[in-house]
Amino acid sequence: MRDAQPGNIYLKDYSAPRYLIDKTALRVDIRQDDTVVLATLDVRRNPDANDRETSLVLDGQGLSLQSLSIDGKPLTPEQFSATADELLIHNVPEQFTLTSEVIIRPKENSSLEGLFKSRTIYCTQCEAEGFRGITYYLDRPDVMSEFTTTVVADQAECPVLLSNGNLLETGELPDGRHWATWHDPFLKPAYLFALVAGELSVVEDNFTTCSGRKVVLQLYVESKDLEKCDHAMTSLKNAMRWDEEVYGREYDLDLYMIVAVDDFNMGAMENKGLNIFNTSCVLAHQATTTDDGFNRVEAVVAHEYFHNWSGNRVTCRDWFQLSLKEGFTVFRDSQFSADMGSPVVKRVENVTMLRTVQFAEDGGPTAHPVQPASYMEISNFYTATIYEKGAEVVRMIHTLLGPELFRRGSDLYFERHDGQAVTIEDFVAAMAEVSGRDFSQFMNWYRQAGTPRLTVTSGYDEQQRQFKLHFSQSCPPTPESQNKQPFHIPVTVGLVTDAGDLPLSPAGETSRVVEITETEQTVVFEHIDCRPVPSLLRNFSAPVKLNYPYSFDELGFLMAHDSDGFNRWDAGQRLSIALMQSLIKDFRTGEPLQLDSRLPEVFAKVLDEIEADQAMQALVLTLPTEFLLAELSDVIDIEAIHQVRRFVCGELGKTLVTAWRKAYLDNVQPQYALSGVAMARRSLKNLSLRYLLNSGVEDSLSLAHEQFMTADNMTDRLAALSGLVNDPRDAAVTLAEKALDKFYQDWQQEPLVLNQWFQVQASCMRPGGLERVKKLMQHTAFDFHNPNKVRALVGVFCNSNPVNFHRQDGAGYQFLADNVLALDKLNPQIASRQLTPLTKWRRYDLSAQSLMQEQLSRVLAAPGLSRDTYEIASKSL
Ligand code: TRP
Ligand code: ZN
Repeated sequence: MRDAQPGNIYLKDYSAPRYLIDKTALRVDIRQDDTVVLATLDVRRNPDANDRETSLVLDGQGLSLQSLSIDGKPLTPEQFSATADELLIHNVPEQFTLTSEVIIRPKENSSLEGLFKSRTIYCTQCEAEGFRGITYYLDRPDVMSEFTTTVVADQAECPVLLSNGNLLETGELPDGRHWATWHDPFLKPAYLFALVAGELSVVEDNFTTCSGRKVVLQLYVESKDLEKCDHAMTSLKNAMRWDEEVYGREYDLDLYMIVAVDDFNMGAMENKGLNIFNTSCVLAHQATTTDDGFNRVEAVVAHEYFHNWSGNRVTCRDWFQLSLKEGFTVFRDSQFSADMGSPVVKRVENVTMLRTVQFAEDGGPTAHPVQPASYMEISNFYTATIYEKGAEVVRMIHTLLGPELFRRGSDLYFERHDGQAVTIEDFVAAMAEVSGRDFSQFMNWYRQAGTPRLTVTSGYDEQQRQFKLHFSQSCPPTPESQNKQPFHIPVTVGLVTDAGDLPLSPAGETSRVVEITETEQTVVFEHIDCRPVPSLLRNFSAPVKLNYPYSFDELGFLMAHDSDGFNRWDAGQRLSIALMQSLIKDFRTGEPLQLDSRLPEVFAKVLDEIEADQAMQALVLTLPTEFLLAELSDVIDIEAIHQVRRFVCGELGKTLVTAWRKAYLDNVQPQYALSGVAMARRSLKNLSLRYLLNSGVEDSLSLAHEQFMTADNMTDRLAALSGLVNDPRDAAVTLAEKALDKFYQDWQQEPLVLNQWFQVQASCMRPGGLERVKKLMQHTAFDFHNPNKVRALVGVFCNSNPVNFHRQDGAGYQFLADNVLALDKLNPQIASRQLTPLTKWRRYDLSAQSLMQEQLSRVLAAPGLSRDTYEIASKSL
C-alpha cells in the first residue's frame, strides 16, 4: 500500500545493476502460520555498472527480517536500513556472501503474488515483481542467477515439494516434516523462480527430443481432475515437436512440470521447468469444457512451453522489453494453433480480439506503445497492446522477410543472446542483419501508440492497362505523443476478377506485399486488362484500420471470390457493419427499422454452399458483437446498438428459418469427437440454434431445451443454456430457470463449470441484470478471493452485458467501483484490471460520462489505494 503518490519509472533511466548475484540458495521452510525463508546469495560487483558506490540496495516487500549477515558475520543495525520496500546495506565488499532470514505469511497473502496458498496448495507467482515478497533480492530481470532451492514442509499436508530444475535430494525430518532440494542449472532472473508444495496427483508421460534425449513430462493436479489432463499433455507434446520443426528449438532440462491451481491472476506462468497454470487453462474434458476451452488449453500450454526459449533462455533486460518475450511468444503460439487447426479460423479470432480489445485500448487513456517509455506499476502492462499488438508487429516482420529469412533471424537471435537479458532492439537487429533490411522506420511500431488509419482509393486506366492504389496513412494522437511519424506498413494486396486473382509477378504470384512508408503513396500495377476489385491487407497484414470505398456489390463479390480466406470473412463483416451502422442512425432518429434484403440473400448463399467448410460458414454468419459496434462508434449509443443487433438477428432468423433448420439438422453429430471438423460442425449447429431462437419460431425453445437435456458435451449444453437464458419470450423464462437449476445441481462439484454458470447469467441481457449479479455474488459457490469467479461475474457483467451495465441511473458503474475498491484491498492486480470499463467514459453520451467519471473519482480518492489501481484511475480521469 502507498503512502505518497507513486511515481513513474522511465525506460531512459535504465542503468545496469550495480551488483550481480551469481548463485542463489534458498531454504523455504513452510510452517503452520509462518514461512521462514533463508537466502544465501553469492554477490559480486557488476563490472559493467556505471558507478562505484558501495551500497547494496535490495528489493523486499512485506518481509519480516530476522537476521542478516555478510560472509557469516551478522550485521549490526548501523550497517543497514530497511524501509517498506527496500533493504539498504552500506559499504559492502567487491564480492561476498549475503545471508538473510525473513518470515512471510503465505496464508494471509490474498494478492496471489509471491508465495501464496491456493486452496490447499502453496505456490508462487513471481512475474513481474513477486519475488521481492519472498526474500530480499535484486528483483529485476537483468540479474540472472543459478538457483538451488530446498523446500521444507509437513509431509502429510504437503507430500509433493517442487521447484525449478532437477530434483537433487530429499529427506525426512522429525515431527512428520520432510524436505526436497532442487537445482536449476540454467541462469535465470528471479521472476522465473517457482515453488509448489501440497497434495497433488500426477500424470506422467515423456517426450524424446530431436537429439534423442528423453524428457519426463509431469502434470500435477488435484486427484479429482486426473481424467482432465489428456488434452494438455497432448498439446504439450505437439508444442515440443512443433518448436523443434518450425524454430529448431529443443527442450533443455530432463523434466518439464506443469502444476494446476484454482486461484491465479492470469492464465499461466512459464517458470523454468515448473509452469504454474490456472486450472482453466490446463484441465479439459468433453463433459466440462467447451470447444473454445479446449483450444485455449492447447494455446496456453504451447505459449508457456515456447517461453522456454522466447523468454527464459533469452530473457528481457527490463520490463519495458516485456513484449520482446510476450509479443514473440504470442506470435509463435498463434502460428502453432494455426498449424494444429484451421489457419483462417485462428486468424479471424486473433483479429477480432485485436479490433475489439486492443484497438479500444489504443484509442483510450491507457494507450501505450508496444515498448512503453514509462510506467507506474508494471502489472498494469500485461495488456492486449504488449501481447496481441506485439504479436502483430512480429508478424509484420515475418511478412516482410518471408518464412526462411525470418527463421534465420530467429536462429541468429537465439544463438547470439542465449543466456542473456536483452532488448527489443536486439531482436530487430538480428532480423535486420539476416535480411539486410533497414528497420529504423519500422521501429515506430514499437515506439508509437495508437492504431494507424489507412485510407485507400483506386483508379483504373484502360488505355495504360494500369491499376493504381493510392494510400494515405495517419494516426490519432495518444497520451505519449501528439504528432506521429509515419509507419512502415506491409499491405498484402491481391487483385480479384471474375476469372480469379490476377497474377502480379512474372512468376505468377497472386499476392504482393506493398510497403507503405510515406504519408501519401501511390502504387501502380501494370498489365491489368480489366478493372479488378482490390483485396487489401490480406490475412490482416498490418494492425491498422483500413478504409476503402467498397460498394455492397464489391463486398459480396469478395465474399464469393477472394482467394484469401481472411478477406472473404472480412468482406462479410464490412457488409454487415455498414448495414448495422445505418440502422443505428435510423434508430436514433426514430425511423422504423428495415433490413436491407441483400443481407439475408448473402447469408442464404453462404448457407447454401455445398462442400462448404462449416467453420468458415459459422464465422461468416456471425454478426459483429455489440462490443465491436461500440468500438466503431463515434459516440456509443448502447441502447441503439443493442436494439439494432437484436433486430437484425431476428430478421435473419425469420427470413432464413428453413435454412437454419437444415443447417442445424445437418450438423447434429451422432457422437462427440474432438476434431477440427467436429468443432466446426458444432459451431455452425449452435449458431443455427441461436438464429432459430431469434426467429421466434414456436418449436425453437423445445429444440434448445432438448439439446440442453441430451447434450453429451459442454459446448452443446452451454450453447443451449445460453440461448434459453437470453431468449426474450415469456415462455423461455421458466425453461431457463429450470435449466440453470439443473445445471447447478449437476455441476456443483466442478469449479470451472460453475464459472461458466456464473458467466451465462452475468451476460444475460434481459432487464434486471444488476440485481441478478448482486444476488449471485451472495451464492455459496461465489468466492471473491478467486479471480476466475470475479471475472465470471463482475468482469463479464461489466464488459459483456452493456445494456445492463450502462443502465441510466449509473447503478452499474457504482457496482463496479464498489467492487474495485473491495478487491483493491485483497488483490490489486485484479482490482485494477476490473476498472477498465470505467476508463472508457469519454466514448459515451454526456450523462453516462459524468456518472462514470464520478465513480472513477470516487475510486481515485479512496485512501490506501494500491499503485495498480491508482495508475489506471489517475491516467483515465
Ligand atoms: N508471463 C505469463 C505469460 O504470459 C503471464 C503473467 C505475467 C502472469 N504476470 C503474471 C501470470 C502474473 C500470472 C500472474 O505466460
Ligand atoms: Zn507469455
